Amino acid sequence: MDKRTALKKLNAHWITNCSCDLRKQCTQAVLGDGNIRAKILFIGEAPGKNEDEQGKPFIGAAGKFLSEMLASISLKREDVYITNIVKYRPPNNRDPLPEEIVACAPWLHEEIALIRPHIIITLGRHALTHFLPGKKISSMHGQLFQCPLPDIGKQTFFALYHPAAALYNGGMRQTLINDFKKIPSILRTIKKEGPTK
Ligand code: URA
Repeated sequence: MDKRTALKKLNAHWITNCSCDLRKQCTQAVLGDGNIRAKILFIGEAPGKNEDEQGKPFIGAAGKFLSEMLASISLKREDVYITNIVKYRPPNNRDPLPEEIVACAPWLHEEIALIRPHIIITLGRHALTHFLPGKKISSMHGQLFQCPLPDIGKQTFFALYHPAAALYNGGMRQTLINDFKKIPSILRTIKKEGPTK
C-alpha cells in the first residue's frame, strides 16, 4: 500500500475509533497536513477555532506566523508535515487535559511512524512534555533531544516555543525566530550523520 493510501486508512480508522471526549463538542477532527515525505514534522497542541471550522491545522494567526518563519528558512508549508497532539478543538481553546492527550496519542504515534520524519519539531510545552515529561519549555527551547518511539526507535526532536504563545510576546517571539533559524544547519547535520532510524 502506498503511503498516501496508508495515511488515509489510518485517519479513517482513528476518526471512527479515537476515544477522546473532545470529539463530542467540536466540529470535526483536524488531521495532519502537508508533505507525507517531509523530513520535518511539526507537532502543535490542539486545533483552535479556525482549524476546527476548516479541518486543517495551523491556519489562523499562529499558522500565518509559522508560515513566515518557514519562509525565513526558504521552506513552504507544502515542504513540511504539520499535526497536533490532540486532534479535536478543546472548548474555548483551553489547554488539552492529560486524558485527552492520552486518548489521541496512539493516532499521533501511528502518524509519526508512517511519515518517518528526520526530525520532529515540538511547538510549545504540551508537545514537548508529551515526549519529555517534566521538562520545561523555557529551558528546552532551541535544543535537540532524542527519545525512543514505538515502531521507530531513537527519534531526533527539536523543541520550540509555540507560535501562538510567542506571537504577542516580543521577547519570546524573537527567541522563537532565532531558534527557528537553527533548523537548516540541524537538518544538514542529520543528513550527514543519517536520520535516527
Ligand atoms: N495551535 C495549535 O497548536 N494547533 C493548531 O492547529 C492551531 C493552533
